[in-house]
Amino acid sequence: MPKIVAANWKMNLRRQSACELVSALKAEGRKCWLFPAFPLLGPVADTLIGGGLRLGAQDVSPEPDGAFTGDVSAEMLVDAGCELVLVGHSERRKQHGELGDLLARKLKRAAEGGLETVYCVGETLNQRKAGKAREVVKEHLSTLQGARKVAAVAYEPVWAIGTGETATPAQAEEMHAFIRGELKTLGLDVPILYGGSVKPGNARELLAQAHVDGVLVGGASLKLESLRAIDEAALES
Ligand code: 13P
Repeated sequence: MPKIVAANWKMNLRRQSACELVSALKAEGRKCWLFPAFPLLGPVADTLIGGGLRLGAQDVSPEPDGAFTGDVSAEMLVDAGCELVLVGHSERRKQHGELGDLLARKLKRAAEGGLETVYCVGETLNQRKAGKAREVVKEHLSTLQGARKVAAVAYEPVWAIGTGETATPAQAEEMHAFIRGELKTLGLDVPILYGGSVKPGNARELLAQAHVDGVLVGGASLKLESLRAIDEAALES
């Protein structure tokens, strides 16, 4: 199976810069998964029509349509052209206090609304130093009990996100192998992506690992040159 390159644009880009990037990726025939911010979903959806790119949102409401100011339902995301959604990203866990129960509801709602999820897990530096990395990841994964329509799990060690510090290929491989085993006990056989300061300079080595089925890229996915280089590494691995 070809390795996956997913781009989490977080709270970056504007209509023009996003659409230019998407047009270029489409013209090059790339098949990345793109996660723009909410206001960019419509314009990006219109731009990527006819190409192999897949569109996803960065969050989804745990509720169906209704009186939930500021929230966006799974059905609205599908209507805007999304097939995918991120759930459990560490920035949402930390900045918005999202925990297991809420995340389970988001997973359920996403599936009911017709979206596939990319579910993110990962330990903090303190947790790793305390020898608790596996325990934390296992606890995060337990939220997937009974989940449907899971497109991928992303292992994103919090200490490697936006820090320039990457897990070594061996660290990534070790945790991915552990995750693979845990997913099996949950009855899930899905790709496992690595995320955390993935750059053109380290993507090839990370993607060469047997249990690394792809990458979830933040900062380096905002520029065509770096995203292209990472995608090339994925195509060759
Ligand atoms: P960076 O690649 O900027 O470290 O972000 C990783 C990430 O959080 C992707 O979801």
